[in-house]
Amino acid sequence: MDTMQHRLLPGLGRTVSVLGAGCWTVGGPAANNGIPIGWDDVDPDIAYAALRRAHELGITLFDTADVYGLGRSERLLGRLLREIDRDQVIISSKVGYFAGTGAHPYHPRQMCHQLATTLDNLDTDRLDVYFLHSTDFGEHDRYLPGAINLLAAWCEQGLIGAVGMRAPHAFAEEWAACPGPRQAETARFLHLFDRIRPNVLTARYNLLSPLYRPDETDIFTFARRYQVGVLIKQVLAQGLLLGAHDPDRPRRFSATDHRHTDPRFAPGALRRLADTLAPLRARHGDHPAALARIALRYAMQHAPDSIVLTGFRNPEQIQTNITCLGDPLTDEEITEIRDLLHPRSPA
Ligand SMILES: NC(=O)c1ccc[n+]([C@@H]2O[C@H](COP(=O)([O-])OP(=O)(O)OC[C@H]3O[C@@H](n4cnc5c(N)ncnc54)[C@H](OP(=O)(O)O)[C@@H]3O)[C@@H](O)[C@H]2O)c1
Repeated sequence: MDTMQHRLLPGLGRTVSVLGAGCWTVGGPAANNGIPIGWDDVDPDIAYAALRRAHELGITLFDTADVYGLGRSERLLGRLLREIDRDQVIISSKVGYFAGTGAHPYHPRQMCHQLATTLDNLDTDRLDVYFLHSTDFGEHDRYLPGAINLLAAWCEQGLIGAVGMRAPHAFAEEWAACPGPRQAETARFLHLFDRIRPNVLTARYNLLSPLYRPDETDIFTFARRYQVGVLIKQVLAQGLLLGAHDPDRPRRFSATDHRHTDPRFAPGALRRLADTLAPLRARHGDHPAALARIALRYAMQHAPDSIVLTGFRNPEQIQTNITCLGDPLTDEEITEIRDLLHPRSPA
């Protein structure tokens, strides 16, 4: 069965399934530099079955990184790539966080090592997109010129097809010129964007994202101006939008699950979120498929030229997230959702 819709992703110039498989979760538990970066309760065989299901149901973009499960995510994906036609799928991976050798992640030797390891893990000779995962390029950005040069050389050699970088979680271009809490981060992003000139960005966007004023340039409008593609992440707010986290019975995460230290998963925050989402759930029901449809459609329709990533750790989750989509949200439904979730925000 392949009823998946496809979109031409600017920057990449290739047609991609509107939903992409986010492969962070399937890497399972991990820590990097003592920081939890993994996900609990991931069985590699079940995760692999989920990757297969994603492919069978028409997903053609798989997003991974060297640090996801410290290579386990890439290796699971490599197993899939050995069984399918590599040319039919788009693979993105990332460099910039791995702390294994003690060298700076963007030291040229380290970057070369990471690319070789990533290609080896994936059992492929090329990446379609290679993301600079972190914005820390060392003191005074000493590793930035070298990283840019390496990426250009790898593009030239056909080792990578496009360059990616991450956008801030909240962004309006105008904030760079306005004194305020977001000014430095926005200015830093614009500076790096100008230096790196990526083809693709990742950006967080979901039902809880701020609504921007008409005179503000959000990340999607910004990307369109430069013909840059966007992969949207955290569309399900890592499960928080699906009713999977009951504030009265909060899940306990191990010290290698990133949610262990994420304040959004603390009981007080879960309680506040449950209150925020209550009107939405009263209107649309509690079933994860109904809530996933709203979350995924909301992002797909906000940015019709972007790809929506969804994470998952078993075949049931990815199947739900692909088959739940149903009809598009109407304009009235989108307005109602915004009124329910952002009652005091500007239109
Ligand atoms: N987050 C970032 O900062 C970031 C950065 C760069 C790239 N990405 C990419 O974006 C991808 C997506 O990850 P994300 O962080 O944005 O997470 P997400 O897609 O918002 O949420 C994924 C998590 O939600 C839960 N879930 C998914 N489907 C479900 C269903 N049908 N029913 C119940 N629970 C369900 C699962 O967690 P549980 O089952 O454990 O509850 C799953 O691991 C990543 O894999 C990665 O490729 C993310």
